[in-house]
Amino acid sequence: MSNTPATEINAKALSLISHKFKTPLSIITGYTQAVLAQTNKEKFSPFTTKALEEINLQGEELSKLLDKLMAFNQVLSAKQEGIQKQEVLLKPLIKQCAAKAIEQEKDVFSVTTADADATKKGTFIEIDCPENLAVHGNEEMLRLCIKELIANAIKFNNKLEKIIKVQGTNHGDCISISVRDYGTGIRPHDVERIFDVFYQVDDDFTGQVNGWGLGLSMVQQILDLHNGSVSVVSDRGLGSIFTVNFPTV
Ligand SMILES: Nc1ncnc2c1ncn2[C@@H]1O[C@H](COP(=O)(O)OP(=O)(O)O)[C@@H](O)[C@H]1O
Ligand SMILES: [Mg+2]
Repeated sequence: MSNTPATEINAKALSLISHKFKTPLSIITGYTQAVLAQTNKEKFSPFTTKALEEINLQGEELSKLLDKLMAFNQVLSAKQEGIQKQEVLLKPLIKQCAAKAIEQEKDVFSVTTADADATKKGTFIEIDCPENLAVHGNEEMLRLCIKELIANAIKFNNKLEKIIKVQGTNHGDCISISVRDYGTGIRPHDVERIFDVFYQVDDDFTGQVNGWGLGLSMVQQILDLHNGSVSVVSDRGLGSIFTVNFPTV
């Protein structure tokens, strides 16, 4: 251990902590879901039902936070160990990421009230990408990157109808993927800081509390690993466009 570099120890500690938390958490959420499924047979008081729903919801949220931590850690490890690259077709990857992002949003609301149900119904992700558009990169890292941008586009968006547009474009010397939303937008002084590790915009503005502030730092590091770049254009109240650029080889 004494010869292990500090960054490697941190990565190992993060990975260990996340895995150790994961199992007890899935037991908590698994049991609360199983008990809630009995509500027709058992007569629970409104308080008991509410308490179980809340335990389940918070368990799911914690589990998502751990997934984020594990994803960030995967990128830290990739930076130390290097990545394997291959031709990755973008359209199917974007489709998978979009489906996953919507599914994860539904997970959170699966046992909550009808009101929450109404909001989730309004998430639409439009994908505009040529069938043969490909990036020379690491598929897993690209997946983490696209998933994060789509998840943010859904999360920082208080509209009932959330429209998100994902576009893949070949510019000749580079290939870009842009994720556009019409959500809260970001103030100029925050735009400069959102790629910093652990940075989150104060909650009054976004109305969101959940997260680590690790996602965009992770996106930035993934682009660094691909000799690419990430940029954002945003207007408060109008929404944001995040664009990642990959060099063509
Ligand atoms: N699409 C977006 N619209 C508005 N704000 C965003 C968007 N994406 C990111 N942000 C802001 O940037 C901050 C950092 O994002 P991120 O690193 O992904 O952290 P997290 O999602 O854990 O809060 C967020 O807290 C949010 O305030
Ligand atoms: Mg995020």
